[in-house]
Amino acid sequence: MDAVIEVAGVAKQFKIHHERHQTLKERLLHPRSGTTEVFDALRDVNFTVGEGETVGIMGHNGSGKSTLLKCICGVLKPSAGQIRLRGSLAALLELGAGFQPELSGRDNVYLYGSMLGLSRRMIESVFDDIVDFSELEHFIDTPVKFYSSGMYVRLAFAVAVNVAPEILVVDEVLAVGDERFQAKCLDRIRQFQREGRTILLVTHQADTVRAVCERAIVLDHGQQIADDSVVEALRIFRQRLHGDGGDRRAAASAVHITGVTTASGTFDVRRGEDLVFEVDVTSDHATTANLVTEVFTRSGLLVSRNDAQAALVELRPGTNKVQVEWRALPLLDGVYDVNIGLVEVSGGTVLAWLERGASVQVIYDGRASGVIEIESSVKP
Ligand SMILES: Nc1ncnc2c1ncn2[C@@H]1O[C@H](COP(=O)(O)OP(=O)(O)OP(=O)(O)O)[C@@H](O)[C@H]1O
Ligand SMILES: [Mg+2]
Repeated sequence: MDAVIEVAGVAKQFKIHHERHQTLKERLLHPRSGTTEVFDALRDVNFTVGEGETVGIMGHNGSGKSTLLKCICGVLKPSAGQIRLRGSLAALLELGAGFQPELSGRDNVYLYGSMLGLSRRMIESVFDDIVDFSELEHFIDTPVKFYSSGMYVRLAFAVAVNVAPEILVVDEVLAVGDERFQAKCLDRIRQFQREGRTILLVTHQADTVRAVCERAIVLDHGQQIADDSVVEALRIFRQRLHGDGGDRRAAASAVHITGVTTASGTFDVRRGEDLVFEVDVTSDHATTANLVTEVFTRSGLLVSRNDAQAALVELRPGTNKVQVEWRALPLLDGVYDVNIGLVEVSGGTVLAWLERGASVQVIYDGRASGVIEIESSVKP
């Protein structure tokens, strides 16, 4: 496979200047006062993306995802290392990149298009498609400063996908649009994949990564900690974020899921049987939380996520055992991975997370195939 994006030993440092003298007068009197701190936003990042691949980039807030994309798109210059690109590139960076607030949507389409290297004539030929896709016919002559953030993203996405780049780089923006528009963007991303284009996608939504990416890269405080299959990258990401990975949030978190067990010692179950298991949780304070369980096929398809609101658990300080009972399992034969989390009742903050806490092996000797069996009957 030919590499279309090559990132070799890329680092990016930002200089942060701390002013010692705050007032204008003081600053005029002491022009070079204060200290400069060097901050490593990216350290030694290495990966390649092959033609036609879709790669996700994940990481906590401030881990360097946007900085990395900006380096790839040439908006920022890396402090060290090399980036090589083969093919035309269109990028949807964070909100605010690109558009001129005083100009209308129409003028911005031309401006943005020309930034992506298109001639006026080429933009004219796709202009109607862009407006169509964005669904902003009525607002196309309105200055974009009056657009909502969702409208803004619609227009930017519409331009980026209609200029038919060989490489599409998308930072997070999918989360901004409403659900219907998100679905439309995902459809377009799938079409891009079928056309063999290369996509780099930054997102916080694990579901999106599972749905469209073949591979994912995980950043943690500017360092690349994974470049792996989606399942494996998500496991590493979640464990670093919520587990004992030394992350600041984890240190502050006082709730941990320490194990998942069954009375029989195995997670083997026949289709239609009940499965009962226990989740071991330690907590340093009394609290209530919602228990989330996710079931995935080995190919990464989400089979089920429970309605956490319906699974309230009370935790005592110390060790706790939470019993989960799955009744009449409808799964067909195969191995299913189970993720388990505890989520704060108000606000939904993840208190603890165990990726692939258990692997359930379902045994089935009937004739149905697929993931679940639908109980059915037919009438003549
Ligand atoms: N121009 C800049 N000057 C100084 N520091 C910066 C600059 N741009 C980014 N940073 C810092 O670099 C780090 C990485 O920022 P970046 O925006 O790449 O994170 P991110 O992974 O995209 O986060 P998020 O999930 O919030 O979008 C942050 O600590 C940020 O404060
Ligand atoms: Mg970002």
